[in-house]
Amino acid sequence: MAQAQGCSVFLVFFLAFSPGGAFYLTVLERCQFSSTDGHDAVLLDQIYFNKILEGQYNSTVGKAIGYTEKVEALVIFLNNNTGFITHEIWKTNLCKRNTPLAQKLLTPVEPYVQLRLEKAEYSQHQQMLICSAYDFYPKQIRVTWLRDGKEATSDVTSTDELPNGNWLYQIHTYLEFTPKPGEKITCMVEHASLKKPNLYDWEPEPDSKWSKIVVGSAGLLLGLVFSIAGFIYYKTTSNGRVVVPTTEDVCPEETL
Ligand SMILES: *[C@@H]1O[C@H](CO)[C@@H](O)[C@H](O)[C@H]1NC(C)=O
Ligand SMILES: *[C@@H]1O[C@H](CO)[C@@H](O)[C@H](O)[C@H]1NC(C)=O
Repeated sequence: MAQAQGCSVFLVFFLAFSPGGAFYLTVLERCQFSSTDGHDAVLLDQIYFNKILEGQYNSTVGKAIGYTEKVEALVIFLNNNTGFITHEIWKTNLCKRNTPLAQKLLTPVEPYVQLRLEKAEYSQHQQMLICSAYDFYPKQIRVTWLRDGKEATSDVTSTDELPNGNWLYQIHTYLEFTPKPGEKITCMVEHASLKKPNLYDWEPEPDSKWSKIVVGSAGLLLGLVFSIAGFIYYKTTSNGRVVVPTTEDVCPEETL
């Protein structure tokens, strides 16, 4: 019944009495489903005493089950009580009927995607790209790798969709590869929250010496341009006229 754990709507969460703050009883009513029409919806009525699950009614089983001695008598009483059973069946039908509505309320949540590079270990390849999608809902997602626009099928591995525990999921997909100059690697994410697939291109770090020299020289040049501009501006404003360097201005002695 792993399927039935797809979604779970908590209908009621109530009752806590604690005369001295020491004891509390919780009754948790759950409606679990993974289908959109609710045919597989399961009603769970759970009784907790001091956070320990003492017993529950499970609509698949159709009766109450006790997990501790404390509730044994109560469970026998409830299962022999047509009023209780009828009421639980009524609530189970309510749970099934309202599944489509609950599904509508659970709108998709878009994943937050991160790409990063790591060294590949124990592999014939040098490097490994990791595409991680975080905090999406629902669980169904497709994360694939494109190499120059074509889907990569080899050297690809992936985790399952991992539940975060807050209805949201995360998944990590790996591509082991040996860098080829000019090759474009893209992580493609397809999900119910997205109108079209989202593409995330891998941008290799410009780490060659030449690119550093180019960036450095460009910075130096820019600095020089600004300082000359600043100097001209200073001369202009202090003299009240535009200084156009003529031969006279620059070296009057030599022209004479
Ligand atoms: C409800 O009962 C079914 C059938 O025995 C079982 O597979 C399922 O795990 C139960 N659910 C829970 C939450 O105990
Ligand atoms: C079940 O309920 C009937 C009457 O409603 C009663 O006669 C019987 O003793 C009960 N059985 C148990 C096991 O409590």
